[in-house]
This record gives sequence, structure tokens and C-alpha cells, in this order.
Amino acid sequence: MSRLEGTRLVLRQIVKDDLEAEYDWLRYCNPFLVPGEDGFIVQGVWDRWPEVAPGRRQMEVLFEANPPLPGDRLLNLGAGLGGLERMCVAFCPAIESIVGLEANPTHLAAAKAANPDPSKVAYFAADVRALDDAVDAELAAAVAEGFDKIYMVELLQDLPVEQLDGLVDRCFALLRDGGTVDLVTLTVDVPPRGWKERLITDMVVRRAAPNLADIRRSFARFDCEIAEKNITAVSSQPFIQRVLDDPSIARAMLPWPLSAAFLKIMEAGLGVAERGVYSVSQITVTKAEAAAGRFARGADDGAAAHEVPTNL
Ligand SMILES: C[S@@+](CC[C@H](N)C(=O)[O-])C[C@H]1O[C@@H](n2cnc3c(N)ncnc32)[C@H](O)[C@@H]1O
Repeated sequence: MSRLEGTRLVLRQIVKDDLEAEYDWLRYCNPFLVPGEDGFIVQGVWDRWPEVAPGRRQMEVLFEANPPLPGDRLLNLGAGLGGLERMCVAFCPAIESIVGLEANPTHLAAAKAANPDPSKVAYFAADVRALDDAVDAELAAAVAEGFDKIYMVELLQDLPVEQLDGLVDRCFALLRDGGTVDLVTLTVDVPPRGWKERLITDMVVRRAAPNLADIRRSFARFDCEIAEKNITAVSSQPFIQRVLDDPSIARAMLPWPLSAAFLKIMEAGLGVAERGVYSVSQITVTKAEAAAGRFARGADDGAAAHEVPTNL
């Protein structure tokens, strides 16, 4: 085993793979989270500064491309603290409904506590990779009629690439004809150069996370149109710069020496981002209008159009 592989293994053990451990460090940032206002669980930390607020701006970019409309049935995968649901209800109160799926119990509890309209917004504990096994009767009923739009904000980079096709299969099974999947994700499309870039890339975006080509290929297995936009400008870079410019922010968030290490990581992270090793993309996938679809809107084939999916 190379020294680099060894380092990676040690890091993996520290960071661990399970979602709870991955987000454990956020405990330290609790005073900086504003669950009632901040949508993005990680970005909740930096969304305190509206001029950089990338979490909210990423959602705004999503809405510019593909806004929630009156009568829409929406699904949000990896709902985090529920910011997207709150933005959807505020942006278009006439949506029919929105279902948020979230695996992390702490995030789910925060999202539920801030539910803006329980008559329209429903949250479920679910691992989006294992919906087939984990789905319960209530969730099955909530997804039975399919969705006009499926949103995912910064979820895909949490999934190993080999799990991408399974997730995309489920999205298409749940999407009405003419419906869209709209996502924002971090991707690594330029190979990292040297140990520092590789380390940062591993810590920010998992090495196995899908890149743009993987995502395109996975969706292209279906009859659909794919539109991509590079939105790295609304990534965390302005926040990182802000923290580096004012180290007292890091010192307030974390005790020394964690704050010092955090600043070093931020500095290296900015360098990696500026070289374009990782980027943020917004991707809209539109499922073709096809008479054979299960969830065809306005189809007059009655039961067939609203068949309950047996395989989520
Ligand atoms: C980076 S956060 C983004 C949260 C939210 N989409 C937002 O923009 O505010 C990723 C979220 O996806 C959740 N998540 C990651 N993998 C998941 C999975 N397999 N199933 C369900 N939720 C998952 C995490 O717990 C976390 O809340």
C-alpha cells in the first residue's frame, strides 16, 4: 500500500462513511446555524452572511431554471434542514405538495420543526439509495402519483458512483412524463495534482463521487433532454474567502487548534477550487413526453396513468 493510500485510509477512518459521523463536526458550529432561516446544512454555517449565502443562491439558480409552479407535485432528495421546502412554499404557495426525503435524523428533525405548511410539505426518513427496501406504506402513498419535479441540492456528491444508476432509475420511475430532475452538485472533472489537491478533493468531494460524464451517461440511458450550467460562482468560495479574511470567524466557531487547522484547510481548499479541480454544476433533465408513461398528466387512460409504482 502506498503512503498516499495509507493516509487516505486513516482519513476515512477519522471521517468515516456513515452520514451521522460525517456531519458530526457541525456540532461545533451550532451557534452559527440558524435553522429557521438557513436551508443548507453545511452552508447554513456561511449563509449567515447574505452577500455570500451560496446555499440559498444555489436554490435560486435552480428556481431560475426550473421554478416550482402552481399545481406541481415536488420531491426533494436529501432535504437537509428543509430550506428548499420553505423556499418552494414561499416562492409558489399554489404548489400541490412537496415531499422531502432525508436520512440524517438530526437534519430531518430540524426540517420537520420548521415545516412551513404541513398540509403541503411532508418529510420522511429515507435513504435515497435504498428506497426499495426501506419504503413504508405512508411514503409509498406519498409518492404513488409521481412528481412533476425532483430536486436534489448537493446530494449526488455524497453517493458513490456505482449507486448513481440505481438512484437515477428511481427518479425516472417517479417522474411524470415531461417532468424534470433538477440538481446542483459538486463534481471533480479535472484530476487533482499532487497530494494536497488530492487530500482536499477527497475531503470535499469523495473520490468515488460521480463526475459530469457519469451523471450525463446515467441520465442519457433514458429518453430525456439534459441541460447543464456551470455555477461554481455560487459555490462556497466567497465564504471561504470571507473566513480567511477574518480569522475571528473560525476562532468563534472552533476552539484552537481546530480553528487553525480549519483555516489551513480552507486556504488549501480555495487553491483547489480556483484551479478548477472541483466545480459546481446545475443540471436539468427533462423526461420526454411519452404516451406510455405511468404518470402522464391528463392522460385519459385512467388507472394506467396513476398506477402505483411497486418498485420505487
Ligand atoms: C450537503 S447536504 C444538502 C442539504 C440540502 N439539500 C440543502 O441544500 O440544504 C446533503 C444532505 O443529503 C443527506 N443525504 C446524504 N446522503 C443521503 C442518502 N443516501 N439518503 C438520504 N439523504 C442523504 C445528508 O444527510 C444531508 O442532509
